[in-house]
Amino acid sequence: MKYPLIIGNWKLNGNSSMIYNFINELNQKMLNINRCKISIAPPTIYLDRVKKMTSSKIKVCAQNVDINISGAFTGETSIEMLKETGVEYVIVGHSERRIYHKEDYDYIAKKYSIIKLFNLIPVLCIGENARENATGKTEEICKLQIDTILKNQGIKAFRNAVIAYEPIWAIGTGQSATPLKIQTTHEFIRSYLAKKDKEIADQLIIQYGGSINIENAIKIINQPDVDGLLIGTASLNATVFSRIIQLVENNNKIN
Ligand code: PGA
Repeated sequence: MKYPLIIGNWKLNGNSSMIYNFINELNQKMLNINRCKISIAPPTIYLDRVKKMTSSKIKVCAQNVDINISGAFTGETSIEMLKETGVEYVIVGHSERRIYHKEDYDYIAKKYSIIKLFNLIPVLCIGENARENATGKTEEICKLQIDTILKNQGIKAFRNAVIAYEPIWAIGTGQSATPLKIQTTHEFIRSYLAKKDKEIADQLIIQYGGSINIENAIKIINQPDVDGLLIGTASLNATVFSRIIQLVENNNKIN
């Protein structure tokens, strides 16, 4: 049985007072949430604080990790440090890191493998840009991004893992992909992996991310191959984020 996984990706946002108010409200509003799995991805410097404040229902997710365990790598955070802080999920391959930090496929694959090695759960973000979308290349791009992991780490690397389909043109634009486009792409991702191992493909959590809000969340989660949501902008407001979780919790989709 799969449970909807909802992660709030705060990106480079938040401060002490926002965290205090946000987590207090979220803890309170999650008291009656039992089906959904919930996680928050604050900036690295706040991981420890968020971990200490959140109830056991709310897991902590890191937005990034270095490929090295320790040493002379100024400014980085290692997987051991994340693990020690109580992090359970780590986002990898987000388009903002691919674009602004020039993270290429091999580098992302190295990060993915270190996350798996330390038994944390990778949230692998994949998805096409606007031009690729317009020219019908969505599946080709998703396949390429999955292949980088498959090539070196094999299908077993997708056991106990999350893939987030995040079309770049839908991130932070207010224009989410249509439920049909989301389902078609998620179905493609699952069937592509099922060719290697059906059981692993069936248990894989495939999230959608890109301009999710209170209005569109249910239409999206109701698609058969959508197992969760990766939420950016709408996760910065505790009332809005909690409302989305409550809607998903009370929705009667059976996975
Ligand atoms: P958004 O961001 O919800 O603001 O579109 C999603 C993401 O980048 O994870």
